[in-house]
Amino acid sequence: MRILFLGDVVGKSGRNCIAQELPQIRRRYSIDCVIANGENATHGFGLSQKHFHQLIQTGIDFITLGNHTWDSPDIINLFHENAPLIRPHNYPEHQPGTGIGVAKGKNGEQILVLQVAGMIAMMPGTKSPFDTLDEELPQNLNKQNFDAIVVDVHAEFTAEKNALGHFVDGRASLLVGTHTHVPTADHRVMPGGTAYITDVGMCGDYHSVIGFDPSISIQRQRAIIPKPRLETASNVATLCGVIVQTDPQSAKAISIQPIRIGGVLSPELPQTP
Ligand SMILES: [Fe+2]
Ligand SMILES: [Fe+2]
Repeated sequence: MRILFLGDVVGKSGRNCIAQELPQIRRRYSIDCVIANGENATHGFGLSQKHFHQLIQTGIDFITLGNHTWDSPDIINLFHENAPLIRPHNYPEHQPGTGIGVAKGKNGEQILVLQVAGMIAMMPGTKSPFDTLDEELPQNLNKQNFDAIVVDVHAEFTAEKNALGHFVDGRASLLVGTHTHVPTADHRVMPGGTAYITDVGMCGDYHSVIGFDPSISIQRQRAIIPKPRLETASNVATLCGVIVQTDPQSAKAISIQPIRIGGVLSPELPQTP
């Protein structure tokens, strides 16, 4: 099976690049399931109902969120409708939504998707992602009931993501880092069969500060008062993701390849199957 995971969709330029590129990517690379991080899709802050449906219509099967989960009030309704949408599972209890869901592949494959947030420089009250993953993942990928298991680690801190990658090796098909919006070049299949990347990057305009207008970001970082509200950068976005191929028997990863199309980053086009 071939799974495409797309990094944080940031604002209109991110949504537009997905609408433009995703249909042909699905065909060209025989993608069975598309999972995307949507926490910044609505003007950089959260995900509205309208943009959720727009992303699903463009060919995304399942959406993960992150620290911007609660920025759009629409998210509560989407959780109540059991939309294919999750937020970090290790958030404090008694909050709406869940951090575990099942994405459906185009041939009926069942992909378990689990999201955890890091504990460093993230939301206060977040429980240990190590404990949460230990509780929720099977001990061994071979003995689980899913065609693949995808873990989204939404975290700021590289070493925390690295450690979580080693911690779950052999227990998930893919562990993908999100949140920093900057793609790393350390994608690989680990010895236990888990594909790994510290951060997949974003689907957004890279002539920016992590997807936002640079001049406003500079003003805010220089603490000039009053601080202007951040606005997303609006030039052509780069679509950033990874394509993971899994073994149908073991659910382990066979390969992980980065994909980057459009905008100001150098293109990265995986081999076609
Ligand atoms: Fe985030
Ligand atoms: Fe983000």
